[in-house]
Amino acid sequence: MPAWHAVTELDKLDLETPFPLRIGDQQVCVVRLEDGIFAINDVCTHEYALLSDGYFEDGKLECPLHQACFEVRTGKALNEPADVDVVTYPTKVEGGVVFVEV
Ligand code: FES
Repeated sequence: MPAWHAVTELDKLDLETPFPLRIGDQQVCVVRLEDGIFAINDVCTHEYALLSDGYFEDGKLECPLHQACFEVRTGKALNEPADVDVVTYPTKVEGGVVFVEV
């Protein structure tokens, strides 16, 4: 059953800078963009690599291992070798605190 987890204060989330964390048994990557805060599963769907260790640009995270790219707003896998989207998680901000539902 998903639950909301407080992950950080909003003013500690730098714009367009991946913020990795562990929630329960899930590796999660939170990214603050101009139009909102987005959270995806941080593990590449191709093999095992943390997307937050990769390169971020223009709303996309590039896996550091084989360079598959994922859209952080939707989790969509944009190119091979990944062909499975990453899971996305709802986010919200309350009282200056960022929450992720995992
Ligand atoms: S592990 Fe991410 S593209 Fe291969």
